[in-house]
Amino acid sequence: MDLEAILSLLSRVTIALSGICIITGVVLVKTGRKETHKRVMIAAAVLALIFVTIYIVKSSMFPPERYAGAYRSLYLFILWSHTVLSLVNLPLAAITIFLGLKGRYTGHKRIAPYTAGVWIYVAFTGWLIFFFH
Ligand code: HEM
Repeated sequence: MDLEAILSLLSRVTIALSGICIITGVVLVKTGRKETHKRVMIAAAVLALIFVTIYIVKSSMFPPERYAGAYRSLYLFILWSHTVLSLVNLPLAAITIFLGLKGRYTGHKRIAPYTAGVWIYVAFTGWLIFFFH
């Protein structure tokens, strides 16, 4: 396995785990396990940061993979929505975690469903993009 394949595999694993952590974290808080919710959500953020780091390293070392198959418009829609929402997710995640850690739960609960939704979409589409290559 070459370095590009290893980085590609690691980014698939980290983005998938990050999304799974968000879904798990929502289930945990809805079933009253707030402390575990906190830990799992922080793990989701750490995994997302690892993903971004791997992505930047990979993009700086290897040319982007171009998809020219039959589903190009669908691919571009997924790629663009994923990219735009991943940028939106950054401030959303920072604010949600900040409010959670500060114990400002009214604000946290107001913004958190949007953060969770956007995050899951970004993780899922990030994973889908790999299937087009
Ligand atoms: C990106 C990270 C996070 C996301 C997406 C998230 C998401 C959520 C969601 C969807 C809820 C349920 C809201 C509702 O029932 O209407 C919630 C509640 C809660 N979250 Fe988070 N959360 C995150 C991080 C944190 C952190 C770091 C803490 C730290 C303490 C935390 C503490 C709580 C608590 C205590 C509640 C329950 C509040 C209550 O029921 O009064 N969350 N969160």
